[in-house]
Amino acid sequence: MYNYGLHQQVNEAIQQAGTDISGEDNLFYTRFMANTANIFSLYMQLYEHHPEAEKYFNQLIRLVVKADRERSALHKQRDAEKIKKGHWFLSNELTAMSLYVDRFCGDLDGLEQKLSYFDELGVNFLHLMPLFESPPEASDGGYAVSDFRKVAARFGTLDRLKALQASMQQKDMYLMLDIVLNHTSDQHEWAVKARKGDKEYQDYYYFYNDRSLPDAYDKTMPEVFPEAAPGSFTYIEESKKWVMTVFHTYQWDLNYNNPRVFVEMLDNIFFYANLGVDVLRIDAPAFIWKQLGTTCQNLPQAHTILRLIKQCVEVATPGMALLGEAIVAPKEILNYFGTGEYLAKECDFAYNATHMALQWDMLATGDTKVMLAAQHELLKKPYGTSWITYTRCHDDIGLGYDDYMIQQAGYNPYEHRRFLKEYYSGEFNGSTAKGALFASNPRTGDARISGSLASLCGLETALEQNDDAAINTAVQKIILMQAHSFFLGGLPMLFYGDEAGYTNDYSYLQDSGKSYDNRWMHRPVISWEKNKRIYETGSIENRVFSATSRLIAVRRKLPVVKDMSNLIWMTPHNDHVAGYLRTEGDQKLYCVFNFSNKASYLTWYAFKEHGDKPARLFDHWEEKTYEVGDDRQHLIIPPYGILLLEPAS
Ligand code: GLC
Ligand code: GLC
Repeated sequence: MYNYGLHQQVNEAIQQAGTDISGEDNLFYTRFMANTANIFSLYMQLYEHHPEAEKYFNQLIRLVVKADRERSALHKQRDAEKIKKGHWFLSNELTAMSLYVDRFCGDLDGLEQKLSYFDELGVNFLHLMPLFESPPEASDGGYAVSDFRKVAARFGTLDRLKALQASMQQKDMYLMLDIVLNHTSDQHEWAVKARKGDKEYQDYYYFYNDRSLPDAYDKTMPEVFPEAAPGSFTYIEESKKWVMTVFHTYQWDLNYNNPRVFVEMLDNIFFYANLGVDVLRIDAPAFIWKQLGTTCQNLPQAHTILRLIKQCVEVATPGMALLGEAIVAPKEILNYFGTGEYLAKECDFAYNATHMALQWDMLATGDTKVMLAAQHELLKKPYGTSWITYTRCHDDIGLGYDDYMIQQAGYNPYEHRRFLKEYYSGEFNGSTAKGALFASNPRTGDARISGSLASLCGLETALEQNDDAAINTAVQKIILMQAHSFFLGGLPMLFYGDEAGYTNDYSYLQDSGKSYDNRWMHRPVISWEKNKRIYETGSIENRVFSATSRLIAVRRKLPVVKDMSNLIWMTPHNDHVAGYLRTEGDQKLYCVFNFSNKASYLTWYAFKEHGDKPARLFDHWEEKTYEVGDDRQHLIIPPYGILLLEPAS
């Protein structure tokens, strides 16, 4: 409905800023007019009853105008190109890597020197782990930010970051950075003021005079780090108060009941957008709204905040897509793409944490049944949104899929999860995996898993035992895991080190800022001496690197792989074989993966169930053609083998 007062407010802000609404800023103005009513309504859903709601709404409007004014011509040009392409981020031509700049290559200058390494691999999109200032001893890998605008000196400067972005853009590369929305470091200026007793800043956080409310919250709030940081509140001696700290004790949760917090953080979001960030990773969005008596996760208001951010970004900095890092139950993850009238209008990306964890399930059990049981949820992803697909990232692996999925596959959920934890921590007899349990909670029996891709695939054990056959198997498993995630649909996100088969790095145990958190075992310090071995034919590094880059190259030449919500799971004629079909127009690609340690037989009938019955299939992986046989004959897939089959005439 037309709201005169609202539009006047926008017009006033625009006039004061000197926006040229009938000239070069016309598209911005049009977008703003189109979204104003939604922005207002979402904002009011959150803040209607706040005494200063109007004041901060006005600031919000001004921030949107300012963000557009401050956006460089170059970034605006890139916005226009992306808008023209439409859903630019669904492309099969993008492949990403996530890395810690310091552990990968020292600093931002060093990274610029390494851009050719990404070319060799085929990576054209980088997720740089948090770069903004964070206290070295209490940083959670940079996820405890003490200054959202200042690049930590160990990485370089803001100007170096801008220069890197410009070089990347010139090479047609894309950049992803984080906004840590849920909390700040206890050293952030706001926290420092709050600790000293400044009421205004205490209202940025959740402060309590005594334990009564914290105790009440604790009854229903799950603990994120039960070993390193039990409970969700920390006593602040200096102010004699308790503060909410869902993650570590040094990560103070921001209070989004306060519209001023929202506006401040939106300003930071625009700051990142105007650095030329292509995808903004919104850290831990599931946690941003708290309500007594709930788990304080995935609450409706958390979604309202994300939608409001999305609407504002779409107006001012439309080339920046949003990734919601919600590592929650499958059904809940889907909600981050938006629901109802906001379907496909919330986050553009979410992590496919369910597929990720289920791949590990398949690898341990050699069985695809639980994976298949999860599909009716996962396939609900709305058109126009996409997944980050991955095998490993900087975090642990949580077995967060639903019990009913495990039951449907015929297993007991408790026993099944226990098996997986024992398998990957290497306790299970016969397991070659070498990981560790993370965040074990004796009260609930929960635990997650740490460990690098290579170590979890058995490479570390095989190397220790000097066992060539086991090394080969481990390498095959690594490639299988990568391939399965690369072709699922979505943006493949490699984790640095995995492209060269890095096993666990235990040096974190010597560092008091890290030793309490075993996620550091799978965050290696890269040795460029070791990485040189990617050029030595037959070395492990060479085999893993060349297979990874070949997978990327195959993916890039097959538009059928772009994420048009075009995935069909093949009938499970053989439980050991995960098979999915990608289709786009007349194009088809059957992606077939053997998760068993033995050869698996798949009836040729499997390829005749989806329209045309191909006479031949060309395997893009081995580059050979198969004659499709009789239904009682079989395609034989080697242990941990992969096939990427396109119907051929
Ligand atoms: C996200 C990050 C994780 C961090 C947490 C708290 O889950 O991926 O590394 O510990 O948020 O910021
Ligand atoms: C967040 C995620 C959880 C992840 C953690 C970091 O809490 O929800 O799955 O493991 O951050 O460890």
